[in-house]
Amino acid sequence: MERTFAIIKPDAVERKLAGKILDRIEANGFAIRGMKKIKMTREQAEGFYYVHKERPFFNDLCAFMSRSPVIVLCLEKDNAIADWRTLMGATNPANAEAGTIRKDFAINIEENSAHGSDAPETAAFEIPYFFNAFELV
Ligand code: TYD
Repeated sequence: MERTFAIIKPDAVERKLAGKILDRIEANGFAIRGMKKIKMTREQAEGFYYVHKERPFFNDLCAFMSRSPVIVLCLEKDNAIADWRTLMGATNPANAEAGTIRKDFAINIEENSAHGSDAPETAAFEIPYFFNAFELV
């Protein structure tokens, strides 16, 4: 079993798509080990995306991620990291496969509805960034 970290991003929560996205998560065999609705501070968003701090989109991305609530999730299944990224689709919804979350729900490359860890080391940083051990069940 593998764990990954996921976010239902502000654009999706604002448009009341959280239920539809959670339905896809459960229908695709993921166990929800942790889940909560939070509103990130600007500083929390900057810390979460620190690997992108030199990228041109960093400021806009952190403003977006802290503008309204998100749902943070710890998901578990065999091959969870890769399978969740497949279910999300490409970063830019214009390039995402049919039937993926980003193809169906994302607005653009920034407001792209969902986040997923891209590697085991990333998941190992991201899960405890938002969850303590008692919150994972
Ligand atoms: P990235 O880690 O490349 O994508 P992914 O979320 O698919 O792992 O980028 C992180 C987030 O940064 C991405 O979900 C949306 C935002 N972003 C932009 O706003 N503009 C861009 O050009 C890129 C590459 C990403």
